[in-house]
Amino acid sequence: MRARLSSGWLRIAVVEVSELVKVYGDVVAVNGVSFMVQEGEVYGLLGPNGAGKTTIIRILMGLTRPTSGSAKVLGLNPEVDPVSVKMLVGYVPEEVQLFETLTPMELFEFVSSIRGIPSGEASERVKTLVRAFDLEPYVNKPIASLSRGNKQKIAVISALLHKPKLLILDEPFNGLDAKSSRVLKEYIKLHLERGGSVLLSTHVMEIAENLCSRIGIIHKGVLVAEGRVEDLRVMVDERRLEDVFLKLTMQDSEVREIVSGLKSL
Ligand SMILES: Nc1ncnc2c1ncn2[C@@H]1O[C@H](COP(=O)(O)OP(=O)(O)O)[C@@H](O)[C@H]1O
Ligand SMILES: [Mg+2]
Repeated sequence: MRARLSSGWLRIAVVEVSELVKVYGDVVAVNGVSFMVQEGEVYGLLGPNGAGKTTIIRILMGLTRPTSGSAKVLGLNPEVDPVSVKMLVGYVPEEVQLFETLTPMELFEFVSSIRGIPSGEASERVKTLVRAFDLEPYVNKPIASLSRGNKQKIAVISALLHKPKLLILDEPFNGLDAKSSRVLKEYIKLHLERGGSVLLSTHVMEIAENLCSRIGIIHKGVLVAEGRVEDLRVMVDERRLEDVFLKLTMQDSEVREIVSGLKSL
């Protein structure tokens, strides 16, 4: 549960993944991944499509079982205690699935009640978050009629309502416009200042670079590198995170080949 840092300080691990493996038929989605998210940091899982990020996150949320290895969230085993994990964590899934016949307002009321938020406090928080994400014109329309971006905003607000100390966000900026992306980034920064922690997955370099305290680069189910952005840059002697990433996932030569193919079009 506690990690000893080189500085000698002891910090609490809010997420611990050890030798995690997930096999779907003949696809090894996650192949022996171990990492830890410490209290008070934003840890980014960065990797190309199909790398295994969502699978790891779904295991952490108790939505799928690991083939082997272990996962702990806030000291809990999500396989044994998925309900407690969901109560304690603010989770934004990659594929947002909402009760489409409800309106956002009805959904927020429902989420607030199952999370046990006192109604006065809940309506204040809903009001603030709805305004922050420019959702006011849509709160009384059926969710089914809303755009992909607005559905993403609804999922984000639903995850933040109960003020969770740990956020687990799977590609949370997907579909968000520039302003809402900025609002979410600022929320994450405030969340950290208040002692919260975040695990997020992304394939967007700029997000990993500017938001994450540490990054785990995942490729074909394997954690190929981990560290602060500066450490990763030194490791492969590249300045831009994009080049670091392509080198570590051995995609740099592939990209060169693709570019030369494009030139012949
Ligand atoms: N439910 C599933 N059944 C079969 N294969 C799956 C399933 N979920 C994920 N996979 C496969 O596992 C691999 C990792 O997928 P995923 O975790 O979604 O990657 P990422 O989130 O990094 O894009 C992919 O090859 C994907 O096709
Ligand atoms: Mg994914």
